[in-house]
Amino acid sequence: MSKKIFIKTFGCQMNEYDSNRIFDTVKEIGFSQTSNIDEANCYLLNTCHIRDKAKEKVYHEIGRVKKNFRSKIKPLVIVTGCVAQAENEEMLKREPYIDLVIGPQAYHKINSKIEEYLNEQKRLDETEFDAVSKFNYLGKIKNSSKKISSFLTIQEGCDKFCHFCVVPFTRGPEYSRPFEKIIKEAKILADNGVKEIVLLGQNVNAYQNDNYRLSDLIIEIEKIPEILRIRYTTSHPSDMTDDLIETYGISKKLMPLVHLPVQSGSNKILESMNRKHQVKDYFNIYKKLKEINPAVRFSSDFIIGYPGEDEKDFNNTLDLIKEIEFINSYSFVFSPRPGTVASKLRLIDNKISFNRLEIIQQKLFEHQIKMNKSLENEVIEVLVENKMQKNTKFFGRSQYMTPVIFNGNDKDIGKIVKIKISNSNRNTLFGEIVEKSKLKVA
Ligand code: SAM
Ligand code: SF4
Ligand code: F3S
Repeated sequence: MSKKIFIKTFGCQMNEYDSNRIFDTVKEIGFSQTSNIDEANCYLLNTCHIRDKAKEKVYHEIGRVKKNFRSKIKPLVIVTGCVAQAENEEMLKREPYIDLVIGPQAYHKINSKIEEYLNEQKRLDETEFDAVSKFNYLGKIKNSSKKISSFLTIQEGCDKFCHFCVVPFTRGPEYSRPFEKIIKEAKILADNGVKEIVLLGQNVNAYQNDNYRLSDLIIEIEKIPEILRIRYTTSHPSDMTDDLIETYGISKKLMPLVHLPVQSGSNKILESMNRKHQVKDYFNIYKKLKEINPAVRFSSDFIIGYPGEDEKDFNNTLDLIKEIEFINSYSFVFSPRPGTVASKLRLIDNKISFNRLEIIQQKLFEHQIKMNKSLENEVIEVLVENKMQKNTKFFGRSQYMTPVIFNGNDKDIGKIVKIKISNSNRNTLFGEIVEKSKLKVA
């Protein structure tokens, strides 16, 4: 019988990277991947626990799978990711349709657990924290990503324990992968045709292996000729060290969009969040980066309606947004997560939170639109990723990650081309490729 796995992924980029590495792993025991759930004999749900009714979403999804397979042979059902870690054996008790529950630090055991299940029909959960063995194992399995832009996890876990966040509980303590293993994986990706590498970590700029830091990784990856662009996410203001800031002045491939979550513009709220940085620290980083490289622009994450946030705190966040002019950001209403310090604090009125979120998003969108409008009639560099489905147009991204849709050529996929922007909306730029012969030399 052919073995086909259908993988569904919720959550952050790290979950996306993990899903791909899980597939690279199960391939070793004969699985091929399918995008048609009906032909799958293994269904894997990679889950996220960061906000809202994460747990309920998972059970709801499993309910849908159950319904889908009602008159067919039941697939092997595996739940992985952060909800799997948080819930572990509870999931097996609550939903008999789930067969295996595997936490993010135990993916290296997935093949043996699948085989154990297939041989003995033993339902089980595996949620030990063992990042060292996991990355040792995954280092031996070739990363088969052939996308133009690919993720590469360099660091996992978090020791910061922000009071609102589940990540330290679901991903475990901070662990940085060995420098040489990361460079080896980057070279494999380059050989596969990858042109942009996005270095990933829950605290990516806390990366530290021997004496190597994130800046060393960027400088080393920059030497791989096939790699044209380098990005990293997500970073923490406290780990924005001078060596990393200086890299923005010397690197030709590090992109000038800095995604640096601030969460709030109020020192009172930052302290209550246990963020370990103040608003002035954030401004200092901003100033230093702008001095080193004026092309740098910022994006951020904001939590609105955190317990204790009053009108003044909220206005401080609004002021910070006006000052920095973030060009692309994520904002969420605070969501109490089980087991975190903030879940025990008194919630503020939901209506107030959502009103504030609306005001914040309006401002953030304004900046995004302004930035995109400012590029109309300009020629910008775009890394071409693919031809769009059901469309003759091509898709790529600007240096600032903004999607660009344009008339292009198949031969340009994987290349950086010059695009003249003719039009824009909040999320996307539209334009035409500029033929080399028509480019004015400045
Ligand atoms: N490590 C990153 C940092 O230090 O900011 C963030 C990682 S977290 C996966 C992504 C974002 O989710 C956070 O920046 C935060 O804005 C948001 N987030 C995390 N917990 C949240 C909660 N309980 N309620 C609302 N948003 C939350
Ligand atoms: Fe969560 Fe980021 Fe804080 Fe770690 S630093 S606890 S991942 S928000
Ligand atoms: Fe979600 Fe876990 Fe990522 S909680 S945001 S999948 S680290």
